[in-house]
Amino acid sequence: MDDLRIGFGEDAHRLAEGRPLVLGGVPIPEAPRGAVAHSDGDALLHAVTDALLSAWALGDIGAHFPDTDPAHAGADSAALLRAALDTALAAAGGLRPQQVSAVVTLDRPKLGPHRAAISASLAALLDLPLDRVGITFKTSEGLAPDHLQARAVVLWG
Ligand code: C5P
Ligand code: MG
Repeated sequence: MDDLRIGFGEDAHRLAEGRPLVLGGVPIPEAPRGAVAHSDGDALLHAVTDALLSAWALGDIGAHFPDTDPAHAGADSAALLRAALDTALAAAGGLRPQQVSAVVTLDRPKLGPHRAAISASLAALLDLPLDRVGITFKTSEGLAPDHLQARAVVLWG
């Protein structure tokens, strides 16, 4: 079947004080802690980026943008996503991302007030209408209070 592909991606980061929190390209200014990362630590964009690559068996974000490469220090995750999207589109024989569905697990702060901005940012990055971008927020119920996690599925058609 060449007219349908699906990709799944996941990313996690430890949280620490003094770090900004950015999710889906959107700064979350009230966050008490942000992601410890070599890049900007945008776990949601990293999960979506891996989902884009995985749909076409193109490896993963670390294979394309090694975190040992100083050129990627503090990297803009939106730029990495766009580069991965271009790579995937070149392999996709005319197919395009049709839908993204993602879950962010974070205990604090509440992300609901940022859902519209995060959805709009992802929609713009993937050139999708807003009704094809579904973002769910979950706490860990206190099981992983120092942990940020994102998971994403991208459907191509
Ligand atoms: O994890 P839990 O099911 O208790 O989360 C309840 C609701 O809180 C979620 O459905 C979501 O709407 C919201 N939430 C949020 N921001 C988070 C975690 C959860 O807005 N960081
Ligand atoms: Mg990451």
